[in-house]
Amino acid sequence: MRIAVYPGSFDPITNGHLDVIERASRLYDKLVVGVLNNSNKKPLFSAEERVDMIQRVTGHLENVEVDTFTGLLVDFAKSKGANVIVKGLRTVADFEYEFQMALLNKSLNPEYETMFMMTNTKYSYISSSMVKELAGFKGNLTGLVPCEIIEQIKEKYE
Ligand code: PNS
Repeated sequence: MRIAVYPGSFDPITNGHLDVIERASRLYDKLVVGVLNNSNKKPLFSAEERVDMIQRVTGHLENVEVDTFTGLLVDFAKSKGANVIVKGLRTVADFEYEFQMALLNKSLNPEYETMFMMTNTKYSYISSSMVKELAGFKGNLTGLVPCEIIEQIKEKYE
């Protein structure tokens, strides 16, 4: 069985993330979305809230599982029986950091391959931090994040 892990903070999940999840889920038998539960980063949404939001918007994808992880990504991938890490690339600005992470993960465990997926151009400018900034200014989030979670994001800024 070909199992891949798609890791991230997903604080919150955006349409760019969802696009990668939908496309990657067609390439592997199972795709595990790994939500980083890192107490050093101060997320807007708790790990449970982030998992719940991802589950709600990926309900139509039967081979997608959502789970949290702490610590190293390669250890999480191993615990899930995955040997592929899927990452989305938006712009060249993402590349340097992602390239470094991919090489580091490879050095930690040579069995893992990082597969980069180019984001759909219509989502290339979306990031979770931009979404939060916009939400803070009561901006319109339509088209940036799945509509099922728009209210939940707005509530954080009321
Ligand atoms: O959505 P993000 O914040 O860009 O995702 C970053 C993430 C979760 C993919 C990355 O921080 C990560 O893999 N963290 C787990 C710790 C780890 O394995 N780091 C690399 C080796 S030090």
